[in-house]
Amino acid sequence: MRTLIAYLSYSGNTEEVADLIKTKLKENNMQVDLHRIGIDAPIDPEKYDYLFIGTFTWDQGRTPDEVKDFILEVGYKPDNIAVFGTGDTQFGGDELFCGAVDKLTSFYHSNWNGLKIEQSPRGSQERLVDEWVEGVLQDAKIYA
Ligand SMILES: Cc1cc2nc3c(=O)[nH]c(=O)nc-3n(C[C@H](O)[C@H](O)[C@H](O)COP(=O)(O)O)c2cc1C
Repeated sequence: MRTLIAYLSYSGNTEEVADLIKTKLKENNMQVDLHRIGIDAPIDPEKYDYLFIGTFTWDQGRTPDEVKDFILEVGYKPDNIAVFGTGDTQFGGDELFCGAVDKLTSFYHSNWNGLKIEQSPRGSQERLVDEWVEGVLQDAKIYA
């Protein structure tokens, strides 16, 4: 199966999550392409069996403009999108924590709960990433 991980990261946290997801997918024999939103050339979403979109949150729970542009670039709502992101509860507590993940998950009517990581995933949160990817893959194998 072919998967894409498209992500936006300024200070590296979301990129670290993307890298962990990539490692986990490869362990499961998935083919993985990484796409840096706002940097890399446009992608063809139809080439992929699964799309992972990653974003940080800022400005009171909002989605960064680059991610909104990427959504417009994709141009339709694929039914195979899983959303992940990083945030920081210091910016408004649970209500605003990873607000962009909630927004994208509901926009795409994603089949999976969004993965929310506080800052860097390194350490105890790595397990959360692994478990989340396993959940997505379980469905992927069922529907394959
Ligand atoms: C100005 C500013 C506003 C932020 N607002 C939020 C927010 O509303 N909710 C949230 O969960 N995190 C917020 N954050 C935290 C970032 O989303 C968090 O640091 C994230 O891990 C950064 O991702 P990156 O390292 O991939 O760039 C904010 C950070 C900055 C600098």
